Amino acid sequence: MNSQKQFSASDLQKLLDKAINIDGLISFFDSTPSKDIIPLKKLKKITHETMENHSNEIYNYASPRGYNPLRQIIAKVLMKNTKLWHKILITSGAQQGIYLILKMLDEKNKGNKLRVASEDTSYIGFRHVVELLKGKYFTIPFKKGKLDTSSFQLLIKKKKINVIYLNPDYHNPTGKNMSTLDKKIIIKIAKKNNIFIVEDLCYQWLGLNNSQKLPAPFFKQYKKTLVVSSFSKIIAPGFRIGWIFSHDEKIIEKLTIKKRAIELFQPYLMQIVLYKFIKNNYKHYHKKIKKLYHLRKNFMEKCLKHYLDSSFSWETPLGGFYFWIKSPINTYKFMEIALKYKILFGPGRAFSQSKEKDRFFRLSFSNLSFYQINEGLKRLAKAFNYFSTTKNINKQSLSKLSIYKNNWLLSKSHLKYQLTKLLS
Ligand SMILES: Cc1ncc(COP(=O)(O)O)c(C=O)c1O
Repeated sequence: MNSQKQFSASDLQKLLDKAINIDGLISFFDSTPSKDIIPLKKLKKITHETMENHSNEIYNYASPRGYNPLRQIIAKVLMKNTKLWHKILITSGAQQGIYLILKMLDEKNKGNKLRVASEDTSYIGFRHVVELLKGKYFTIPFKKGKLDTSSFQLLIKKKKINVIYLNPDYHNPTGKNMSTLDKKIIIKIAKKNNIFIVEDLCYQWLGLNNSQKLPAPFFKQYKKTLVVSSFSKIIAPGFRIGWIFSHDEKIIEKLTIKKRAIELFQPYLMQIVLYKFIKNNYKHYHKKIKKLYHLRKNFMEKCLKHYLDSSFSWETPLGGFYFWIKSPINTYKFMEIALKYKILFGPGRAFSQSKEKDRFFRLSFSNLSFYQINEGLKRLAKAFNYFSTTKNINKQSLSKLSIYKNNWLLSKSHLKYQLTKLLS
């Protein structure tokens, strides 16, 4: 792999600290569900009732495993198997789940450092946990979009890989799904080498096309799978509620002890609120969010086609929150200029160490209105043009701004009307 300097956790923090002070910033970096669809009134009502009627649970010390009815409803509604509930540990988001699991596997490795295999492009927070634990990650080899079995086997042996981390459905940042065949090969190799698979299922409920069926998850096919997931992408990251699942109850016990050492337990108030909300509203709410993201994804694609020229390319995402776009320029170097135009995006370098990924960038559509998407991409196109002239790239502009007159799209009020109609 042609590699480059890593975009570290402190690089990310510096970038976010800088961006937060920019007035009027449009952030395509945000990795959050839409604020517009959070059922505030309902949540307020449930919170109020919970504070009045659950004083035993919410004002006391409680179990680090989490609120049992919440564990039960996760098993039933999201994991589609009620029997699994006692093998679920509630965590502070999937991020804590990734940390607890990798820490446990690191300690199990008796003095040898953690060695993780993952996709070449992967979730930034996972990379930061490996960084924190001073572990190493290695890229799972793919050739022409398919897993390269023999090179992967070699990698596992040669680099003494002890865990595989995957985000197989509606991947962050690429939006892709792992094929049934690639999953089978990975399972076969993991089994042969007795390696754990960490399956990150944060986006699995966010398919944008209802007719699409996902390949069976790893945890249904391989016993040594440890699932991490959360409500951060389906409801709100601010609740900080996620979970870990393992077929092996002893592992859940070990992780529970670790979690206890860190924070004793997690507040029960939001766990109870979430449980009640899901119990009575999840089906309807889930339909609604999928519809909204589908609309936003389509609208963003329209704008991308409108503002960017053919030197940019992407695959239409099938689910999740992101467009992963290949560009003709180094997006890391471009970031400073984009910030001057009050735009923040995810540079390819944040998700990969391979040099080629410096040409990519991630744009999130989940938490932006139609107006912000249009305005943001118009600004981005202007910034690209400025960058290309200052850097003398092909002596041409990279966007079609010079061809089109501004604001070809619908007016702000019309967009709002259209959205309200579709979501009612
Ligand atoms: C793939 C993936 N896993 C885990 C997380 C962390 O989620 P949480 O907010 O539940 O900690 C994210 C957040 O962006 C993510 O994209």
